[in-house]
Amino acid sequence: MTEKELNALLNDMSLEEKINQMVQLPGQIYASSAAVTGNIENNDVNHTIFYQAGSTLGIYGAEQLKKIQKEYMAKQPHHIPLLFMLDVIHGYETAFPCPLGLGASFDPESVKMCAEIAAKEAAVGGVHVTFSPMADLVRDARWGRVMESTGEDPYLNGKMAAAMVEGFQGNTRAEKGTVSSCIKHFAAYGAATAGLDYTNVELSEHTLREYYLGAYEKGIHAGCDMVMTSFNTWNGIPSTGNPWLMKQILRNEMGFDGVLISDWGAVGEMVNHGFCEDRKEAAEKALRAGVDIDMCSDCYADYLADLVREGVVEEKVIDEAVMRILKLKNKLGLFENPYRDADEEKEKTVLLCEEHRQFARKMVQKSVVLLKNERMEEGCLLPLDPTKKIAFIGPYIEGEDMRSSWVVTGSASNTISIRQAAKEVFFENQIRFAKGCTLLNNDTVLNGAQYHSDSWMEDNMRLEKEARQAAAWADIVVLCLGEHNHQSGEASSRTSITIPDIQQKLIASIYEVNQKIVTVLFNGRPLELDTVEAYSGAIVEAWMPGTEGGHGILDILTGACTPSAKLTMSFPYTVGQEPMSYNSYSSGRPKQTEGRADFTTRYLDCSNDPRYPFGYGLSYTRFSITEPELNQTRMGFNDQIIAQVRVKNVGERKGTEVIQLYIQDIAASCVRPVRELKGFCRVELEAGEERTVTFTITEPMLRFHCPDGSYKSESGRFRLWIGNSSVDGNAKEFWLEKGNRMTE
Ligand code: GLC
Repeated sequence: MTEKELNALLNDMSLEEKINQMVQLPGQIYASSAAVTGNIENNDVNHTIFYQAGSTLGIYGAEQLKKIQKEYMAKQPHHIPLLFMLDVIHGYETAFPCPLGLGASFDPESVKMCAEIAAKEAAVGGVHVTFSPMADLVRDARWGRVMESTGEDPYLNGKMAAAMVEGFQGNTRAEKGTVSSCIKHFAAYGAATAGLDYTNVELSEHTLREYYLGAYEKGIHAGCDMVMTSFNTWNGIPSTGNPWLMKQILRNEMGFDGVLISDWGAVGEMVNHGFCEDRKEAAEKALRAGVDIDMCSDCYADYLADLVREGVVEEKVIDEAVMRILKLKNKLGLFENPYRDADEEKEKTVLLCEEHRQFARKMVQKSVVLLKNERMEEGCLLPLDPTKKIAFIGPYIEGEDMRSSWVVTGSASNTISIRQAAKEVFFENQIRFAKGCTLLNNDTVLNGAQYHSDSWMEDNMRLEKEARQAAAWADIVVLCLGEHNHQSGEASSRTSITIPDIQQKLIASIYEVNQKIVTVLFNGRPLELDTVEAYSGAIVEAWMPGTEGGHGILDILTGACTPSAKLTMSFPYTVGQEPMSYNSYSSGRPKQTEGRADFTTRYLDCSNDPRYPFGYGLSYTRFSITEPELNQTRMGFNDQIIAQVRVKNVGERKGTEVIQLYIQDIAASCVRPVRELKGFCRVELEAGEERTVTFTITEPMLRFHCPDGSYKSESGRFRLWIGNSSVDGNAKEFWLEKGNRMTE
C-alpha cells in the first residue's frame, strides 16, 4: 500500500479499531499449541476482540498460521492482517548455540548467517517478527538471562546485535526468507539488581550511556524494525513508562522510528512497581512514553478509548502509534500477501535441512571454549587419543535438552547427543557410556514444579557404581555435566552458580578410579568451577550448544576441529565476586602485584580477578604475538595510528586465534576503564605460518560520555594492548594531541 492508502485506511478506522491494532494477545487465544513465555493466567483467554487485535505471539507453523490469518481477516473490519511474532532467539527448528556461546565465536559474520538461517526457517513457518537480538549488556552471572546475551562488552555486543538484525531482516523485508527484528530489552535489563528479574536497575546516566545503550543503538542503526521495552525500572522509573528513555534517547537521539512494543505484561506491571495507581494510569503512562503495542496486559484494550474520550490523551497520539504498526505490516508486504512466506511444502525441505545442520555444527565448533588442557604425564588430554578407551559419563551424554530454555520451537529429539556423536567416531569396543547421576539434586524447584523422586538416592547409587566401573575400564573419562537448560533463561536467577551437588559428587567419585578426566560443561551462565577445576585435566565450555551439540563437541574433543572461541563473560572464582567485568575502573589503591597488600582494593578471602577472564580461550596449538609496533606515537584528531603485530602459529596443528585490541584512556575528565575492547579479528594459521595483523586507531574510537554531557575524546596519554585475551598483550603508549596531524 502507498502512504496515501495507509492514511486513508487509518482515517476510516474507528477509535476502537485503531486501539485494537495496539493490542497484542497471547497466542493461546488463537491456538492451544502456543509457546508460554509469560504469565498467561493473567490474560482473559476468551477475548472478545481476538479478531481485531493487531498482533499475537508464540504461535508458529505454516498451516496453522495461514488458517488463523484467513479466519481473522474475514472478520477484521478492514481486513487488516494479523502480525505473528515469536521468540526466535538462536534458531527456529535448527537451534544454534545460545547467544552467550555465539558471541564467544567473535565472528559476527557467522552469527549473521545464523540469523539468516533462523529467518528462513521462521518465515516459511509463517512468522513475521522475531523478538531478537537481546542486546542487554550483562555482568552478573546470578541473572539467568545472561544466557541470551553476548556478554559483558559494549563493542562486541554492538557488533553481534547489528549482525543479527542484518541477518534476520536482509536488505528489504520484501525478500523471501526474512523476518523483522525486534531488539530488546530497552534498556539496561542486564544490570538487574542482585541478578533478579523484573526488578530495579540503579545506574548513573553516565554508566547507562557508556556501557549499556551502545549495543541497542548499533542494532537500531542496522535498521531493526522494532524495539521492546524492558521489565526493569531505571533509577525508579519503569522503562515501559519512561518518556526520557523511549522518546529522548530511543527516538530523538538514536533516531528509531519503528514500532515500540512492551514486554509481556510490562504495561500492567507498572502498578506492581508502584509507579501507577491502577491499570488505567498504566495505559496512560505507557502511551505517553511512546509504547505502540501493549503485549498481553490488556491495559490498552481496556482503557485507551476512555482516556481519549475523557480528553486525557489525544487521539493524534493513537493515530501516530497505529500508523507505525500499519507501516510495519506494509513493509512486510502483508496487505498484498497476508500469508507472506508461510509454506507447508517448503517447511518440509527448509526446516532442519542438512545445510542448516552443517552450519549449526560449525557454530558449535566456533562457540566451544577450551578453558583448561593441562599437560599430564602422557601429554594433554585433548584432543583425545584415538587409540584410547574412553568412558563418556554424566547426565549430558544423552537425552537432556542441549538447547536453551529459549528455543520455543522444534524438538529436543532432533538434537545430536554426545552418545550418538561418539558412536559415529569411535569403535564400539573403544567406548562406554554411563549416566553417572541424575542431572538435578532431589527436590530441586524448576519451572514452578519440584523435581522429586522417592528412589533418587538409590538411583544415584546405582548410576554412580556403573559409572565407576566404566571409568575404571577406560583410559580417559569424558564427563558431560552442567546446569539443567531451565536453570538459566528468564526467571532463572540463582544465588549459587555451581553445577548441581550430585554432579560434583560424581566428579570426585570418578576421580578416585581414574584421574584422566575431561569435563564438558553445558550451562547458560558463568559457573563457579572449584570442584570441576580440582578434578579435571581438561575443561571444555560448551554452553547450550543446540541441535548439533553432540557433533560439534566431538569435533572439538577429537581434534577434527581446533577450538578458537573466547569467553565473552568473566568466570568468577566465587559468586561473591559478582557482578564483575574486565572493563571495570581502577581504584585509588589498586591491588599490588607484590609487596604489602593491606590498605589496597582487595578481598580478604578471594582474588579480585576472575578465574577465567573475558576474551580468554585456549587452542590445541600455540600462537606467538609480538609487541605492538606503532607507526607513530602521537596523533591529531584527524589522524590515525597504525598498530601492528606479527602472529605466528608455533604449534604443530592449524588453528585460529582471536587477536584483540584493547585501549585505556589513562587520565580523563572522569575515570575510564582499565581496558576497553576496540577491535578484534580471527586469524587462521597453519602450523608455522605467521601473519601481520593491523589495527587502525582513530580519534572517534577514543570518545566517551563526558561529565559535561558531551560525547568526545580528550587529548592526552593512552595505552594499548594487542593480545589474545583481556589480560594479555604488551602495552604501548600513544598520545592524542589537540589539532590535526602532529609531527614527531
Ligand atoms: C518474555 C521475555 C521477552 C520475550 C517476551 C515474549 O517475558 O522477557 O524476552 O521476547 O516475553 O515472549
